[in-house]
Amino acid sequence: MRKPFIAGNWKMHMTAETGAALIKELAPLVKDANCDVAFCVPAILIPAMTEAAKGTNIAIGAENVHWEKEGAYTGEISCDMLLEYGVKYAIVGHSERRQYFGETDLGVNKRAKAALAAGITPIVCVGETLAERLAGSTEAVIREQMEVGLAEIEDITKVVIAYEPVWAIGTGVVATNEQAEETIAFIRSEIGRIFCPKCAENVIIQYGGSMNAANCRGLMAQPDIDGGLIGGASLTKDFAEIVNYDKPRTNG
Ligand code: 13P
Repeated sequence: MRKPFIAGNWKMHMTAETGAALIKELAPLVKDANCDVAFCVPAILIPAMTEAAKGTNIAIGAENVHWEKEGAYTGEISCDMLLEYGVKYAIVGHSERRQYFGETDLGVNKRAKAALAAGITPIVCVGETLAERLAGSTEAVIREQMEVGLAEIEDITKVVIAYEPVWAIGTGVVATNEQAEETIAFIRSEIGRIFCPKCAENVIIQYGGSMNAANCRGLMAQPDIDGGLIGGASLTKDFAEIVNYDKPRTNG
């Protein structure tokens, strides 16, 4: 069955010093996790965070990856550069990349395919804006993101999908358990339609958007939600509470 997967996305936060300190603090708190655990960190922090996480069950991921092996792509990072540090995951198509840096579904697709070819698990983000949700086009938007973003992927079970409603990211407005479950169940049914029903059963789908220690249990109890992609709450000790969502709370 699907193993739950809780990942932090540090975005443009932390330094080598503060990041390593957080990993050292969290490592003993998450060591008995029943889920996979990762931090996706700014590229420049990858060497130091890999070092800090050595010997722990915390994997290190990147926040993006380019599709070409090398070349004149100022500011981009290749799969080989990530592999040199044993990076296991790369977020692709985060809504902040789409919104502020003009990334498209086509580019997301190239990035995801390159990661897969290199043996890096892409965490492909999809999700609607508030205007799209209010217009009733959530499913159409996500269908398009999936049809283009996941085109020509041979083994979809090697991809992690993160459903991140843009209106819930960094706003403190979390999707309700029902909203998150409904849309993630839709994403799973689309995987069944685009790929195969059996694959759909095996794809890990995370929820992301203001997920925290207080609301993680309700979200994780939903049948189609297999994990979380955590922004703000991955910058503090709260992250351990989320990773340990299936255990009694330690701080009330
Ligand atoms: P927040 O948890 O800060 O809302 O961010 C979610 C996110 O964008 C993770 O990729």
